[in-house]
This record gives sequence, structure tokens and C-alpha cells, in this order.
Amino acid sequence: MQRKALEMFVCPKCGGALGVASVASEDPATGEMIEGRLECGACRAAVPVVRNLPRFVPSDSYAASFGFQWNRFDRLQVDSVMNNDLSRDRFYATTGWPAHLEGQRILEAGCGSGRFTQLALETGAEVFSFDLSSAVDAAWRNNANAPKLSIFQASIYEIPLRKDAFDKIFCMGVLQHCPDVRGAFRSLLPFLRPGGEIVIDVYEKPGGFPPLKYIARPFLRPLGTEGIYRLLCWTIPPAFVLKKALHRIPVIGPQIGRLIPIGPISHAPRLNYTDEELKQVKILSALDMLSPVYDQPQTMEEVRRWFEEAGLAEVELKRGYNGINAKGKRPH
Ligand SMILES: C[S@@+](CC[C@H](N)C(=O)[O-])C[C@H]1O[C@@H](n2cnc3c(N)ncnc32)[C@H](O)[C@@H]1O
Ligand SMILES: [Zn+2]
Repeated sequence: MQRKALEMFVCPKCGGALGVASVASEDPATGEMIEGRLECGACRAAVPVVRNLPRFVPSDSYAASFGFQWNRFDRLQVDSVMNNDLSRDRFYATTGWPAHLEGQRILEAGCGSGRFTQLALETGAEVFSFDLSSAVDAAWRNNANAPKLSIFQASIYEIPLRKDAFDKIFCMGVLQHCPDVRGAFRSLLPFLRPGGEIVIDVYEKPGGFPPLKYIARPFLRPLGTEGIYRLLCWTIPPAFVLKKALHRIPVIGPQIGRLIPIGPISHAPRLNYTDEELKQVKILSALDMLSPVYDQPQTMEEVRRWFEEAGLAEVELKRGYNGINAKGKRPH
């Protein structure tokens, strides 16, 4: 845990300042705390530091499926590991931010495995990233000891940071997975400094017949996240091989292959996936579709209303990589 981040954290109970109460182990190279305890100077509430990270929540709560998912697939979407630019394209297309943000402070809500964390850090900004689930452990592995990064486990509804302190906030792929979607958006706003900018994306509510995932989910839920994962590991790789074989049969092969609902068997060449990686990508995206407890897409009108009622300026809404992209600035 970055000791210097202590000046940004506040007590989740009373808002008081936190200090180090005890240190059980330290990183010999950096001197930073690996295991220990923080304590509020005012109300004495304790915040454990476990595996390098302060834990402001006692458990993953309803987001445990994401803890499993991002620890299991911790590297599959990280551009620097996969040698592609999938996350980079989405990050810049969604935020519209410049590549250099030295001197700025960014808050990332719901960091998952930390694929966007890495990109935010590359801008030269100071970055604070959190997630409700143990995905923070994966984000830490992917970005360990970055000098300008602080990762912590906390809920978007109770962010234990100083208010009015961030030049930029981004929250991508998260809001639809929260129980109160508008409330989750609103809980980010007090952390923007005047003139600061918030960027979100959120699933868009589909018109017409509901996508297959909403129909399949109630049947699969009794299996639990690990059960769904095992089922996908048994079924997707052979389905992939079969679909690929069908594609070699002229004319009717690809038509029959369409009945196998695992998406395309090829990918953009720049993504550089091997067949084995592509099978893993498919397992990850199916798990991500089938296992979350909450999945609440929104309409453009609803998202526009959030930004308007928050009094944000320079509001922009568009359709993007993950449904609705929206951004706006806190007036000075
Ligand atoms: C689909 S993942 C997206 C992760 C990452 N932003 C990405 O796009 O790779 C959604 C993330 O939101 C997190 N999440 C859900 N509810 C949350 C909450 N109340 N507070 C913080 N994070 C939350 C989940 O744990 C999960 O890691
Ligand atoms: Zn306190």
C-alpha cells in the first residue's frame, strides 16, 4: 500500500483522517505495507491492509462473480500482455482524453483486472482505482508497484476518498452491474473538482426480444459462478472446433455454424489471438454475460437525465464500444 496515498483516504465511518496503526509485513524493496492495519484518528475504525491493498469492505458482496472472473482471466484483456490495442482503443474512444495528463489526478471506479488502469497510468497522471470485488488483486498483479497508483477494495456507494479532489473520473463497464445504477453514478460526483470531467459507459437497454443471456441466466444461476465457468469450459472449446470445421464446408457449413451461439470464430487480425486464446476470450465473455447478479441496461434519455440533474456542463452522449458513452464537466 502506498503510504503517501494515506493523505487521500478518509475513514469510511466518520470521514476522519486515517493513519497506520500496525504493520505486519512490508515489501523489502519499496518499504510499502503488505499486511497491516489503518485506523481512523477520530473514531478508531479499523481498515485492514491485506495483500498490499486497503480493504474498505469486508467482502466482495454481490460482485463475487467478478472477483472470480477477473482473477481467473486476469491477463486476457490487458493490451501489454496480449500484444494488441483492444482496451486502448476503447479507453481513448470513450474518454476522448489526451495521451498526456501529467499533473492530473484520475479516479477509476470498478477497475476489474486493471486493463484501463494501466492506460490511465501511461498518461502520466496519478491514479486511484478501486473495485468492490477481489478483482483488485488482479489489478494489483497487473500494475504492481506503479509509483503513481493506489488500488483499494471499496464500494462505489461509499468511496473512502477526499471530495473535490479529482481532475478526471472514469467508470467503464460497471454501472449496469450495480443494484442502484443512477445512485452509483451520483455517488461519483462529489469527488470531481470544479472543472473536472466524468466519463462513463453503460449498457444500452435493447429494444424488442431480450438477448439470450437474460433468458439463460435464471436457469444457470443455481450452478453458481464456478459451476457456470466449468460448464463453459466443457462446452465452448468443442463448439469452437465444430464451428470451425463447419466453416470449411462450402455454402451450407457457415449457415449451420450460425446455430452454434458462440459468436464468430475469427477475429480482427490486429488482435493476434491464437485459437486457444480465442476460446478463452469466448469463455470469458460468456461468463461475463451469464454470471453477474445485476445487469441493468439504461436508455439514452435516462443517462441524459442523470447528467442534467447533476448540473454537469459540456455534456456529450453517444453510442460506443459498450453501449452508451457519456461525459460531462463539473462547472467551476
Ligand atoms: C464488467 S466488470 C468491468 C471491469 C473493468 N472496468 C473493465 O472494463 O475491464 C464490472 C466491475 O464492476 C465492479 N463493481 C460492481 N459493483 C461495484 C461497486 N458497488 N463498487 C465498485 N465496483 C463495483 C465489479 O466487481 C467488476 O469488477
Ligand atoms: Zn472515523
